[in-house]
Amino acid sequence: MPDTLFVTECFRTHRSTGALVPSGRRLARALARPLRTGGSGEPRRYLEVGAGTGAVSRHLASLLGPDDTLDLVESNPRFAARLRADPVLRPYGGRVRLTEARVEDLGPGTYDGIVCGLPFANFHATEVTAILTGLLDRLTPGATLSYFSYVGLRRLGLLLAGAPEYTRLVEVEATLAGIRRRYEVGRGLVVGNVPPAWVHHLAPDRAAASPQRAVSTVPPPTGPTAAEPESVGT
Ligand SMILES: C[S@@+](CC[C@H](N)C(=O)[O-])C[C@H]1O[C@@H](n2cnc3c(N)ncnc32)[C@H](O)[C@@H]1O
Repeated sequence: MPDTLFVTECFRTHRSTGALVPSGRRLARALARPLRTGGSGEPRRYLEVGAGTGAVSRHLASLLGPDDTLDLVESNPRFAARLRADPVLRPYGGRVRLTEARVEDLGPGTYDGIVCGLPFANFHATEVTAILTGLLDRLTPGATLSYFSYVGLRRLGLLLAGAPEYTRLVEVEATLAGIRRRYEVGRGLVVGNVPPAWVHHLAPDRAAASPQRAVSTVPPPTGPTAAEPESVGT
């Protein structure tokens, strides 16, 4: 049965929610595949951007080693309230932390893996570039950033769009394609999701080996405007 909060938010805040239903288990697993979780040794830090109602967060939390942590960022206050009350996430206490904010306002920090659930198809190309390059800059060496896009959504959007919207969609796709050419280290098709989705894995190391890195990078915000995390389990 569809999550009613998700359906409501899809109509109420369509641009930022971007989906009628949360991600399924197969998509969550595909997004987490490159994360080097559960090993002994150094504690690892993971970040999920756009956690929604926690469909992917719960899978990521299940992969944490005893000293690993997972930071969730969610801008919608109603989704954030749901995450705070989540019975699966609460027992993790301080190991799963929530920042109720736009990812653009996130404080400084580096991560051993990032999963991003943002609906880039609804954003402007400049926002996509700023967010993705900002996140890539937060990765520790060897770490990856994974995001997904729904199969066929772009074609449908282009068919239905008026002129300004058509231009925006073309620019967003060109931006994402440029970023993938530069940073993609793997991809997969998840047919068993509603709707089916492409999962893309990006790594800055691939670009470091390349002579040109044309996509500009933005430093993470610092100072009093940076949003602070809270423990989900308190
Ligand atoms: C497509 S939903 C994905 C939700 C969840 N990750 C999943 O896969 O089921 C996109 C989520 O990103 C959140 N979001 C959109 N823009 C955001 C931003 N700038 N910063 C943080 N979260 C954002 C939305 O509120 C929504 O929860």
